[in-house]
Amino acid sequence: MSKRKQIKYNLMIPGPTPIPTRVLSAMNHDMIGHRGPLFSAVMKDVMEKLKWAFDTKNDIFIYPSSGTGGMEVAVVNTLSPGDKVIVLNIGNFGSRFVKICKAYGVDVNDVKFERGKSADCETLRAELKKGAVKAVLFQQNETSTGVINDVEALSKVVREIQKDALIIVDAVSGMMAAPLKTDEWDLDIVVAGSQKAFMVPPGVSAVSISQRAWKAHEASKCSKHYWDFSLMKEQAPKGHTYTTPPESLIFGMQEGLKMLQEEGKENVFARHKANRDLVRAAARGLGLRLLADDSCASPAVTAIFPPEGIDGEEIRTLMREDFNVEVAPGQSELKGKVFRIGHLGYVDSLDIIGAFAALEVLFKRLGAKTNFGAGVKAAMELL
Ligand SMILES: Cc1ncc(COP(=O)(O)O)c(C=O)c1O
Repeated sequence: MSKRKQIKYNLMIPGPTPIPTRVLSAMNHDMIGHRGPLFSAVMKDVMEKLKWAFDTKNDIFIYPSSGTGGMEVAVVNTLSPGDKVIVLNIGNFGSRFVKICKAYGVDVNDVKFERGKSADCETLRAELKKGAVKAVLFQQNETSTGVINDVEALSKVVREIQKDALIIVDAVSGMMAAPLKTDEWDLDIVVAGSQKAFMVPPGVSAVSISQRAWKAHEASKCSKHYWDFSLMKEQAPKGHTYTTPPESLIFGMQEGLKMLQEEGKENVFARHKANRDLVRAAARGLGLRLLADDSCASPAVTAIFPPEGIDGEEIRTLMREDFNVEVAPGQSELKGKVFRIGHLGYVDSLDIIGAFAALEVLFKRLGAKTNFGAGVKAAMELL
């Protein structure tokens, strides 16, 4: 059978996400002096817009780094070797927090949850009752499993049992895909990354810092230089950074944030939820099993079990080769067992339906026992 050649690349992974032309055009900007008034005005505007996104009055620092750099920023600036912390580990990025803490000699209680489940408050309560900890670290949205945590509820439990423990939240894939109220929920450090719902290429992390986190910073003994809050503290109010900022990405962040503000927060969240529901309806229509329950299903990414006898990696390869659609692999213990469809950032209903149409054809070619057309039909009915 001859296969049609698809010339258009369709990115359906949970970051980087496709970039709107408006953002790309904004990045097409001359380099300017990063200590001069022009750049300083852009940087201050980006910081203000980020405060809107984070829902905070706290300081927000911008680092030239991927999301993992932002996670490391949080650890090295607030903790010391030997400090006891709890990591609520619901997937690959929870394990990454554990690895970062261990690399700096932090004493981690790695509280692992079954993959596909969110962190539950009762387990956290029981762990907090065992003894004082310096911090509790967890993801807002776990990208490897497609699970969202109830950040508000978890934070309440921390405050109820250990009022002064730091709450450190990795919101790299959750920020602007789902509500997160930094001040109202009393979150000490929140980390975001440019390449997710902000619709900007990878390379910028943003970190918010509460008063409690600033106090912890004064006592923190982890080795640091590049990431040191103290070096940023005098620069940020001037719209500067300690090192040379990734100017093109900052221009991109300004435009991406502007687009989100024009759309309005509630609409942005509703769009992500609607995308999630569309993916879940299509997958279920096809008779596929989902890793996460509806109760904790991520608005950013969905992990799906392939039909019987088909490997997740094979789906990924064939989607790319036959349809030019890029879906994401399972990570760590889920490698080959699931594939993931990203639906955050600059992704629309029709992109999702197109991806499922490709999947259905692929399953038919592979002889899978799926009901041809049923996934797309279920999604269209939802539309
Ligand atoms: C929840 C979460 N945390 C951290 C990261 C790490 O970000 P990066 O790959 O940009 O270092 C990712 C990346 O996908 C993520 O999804």
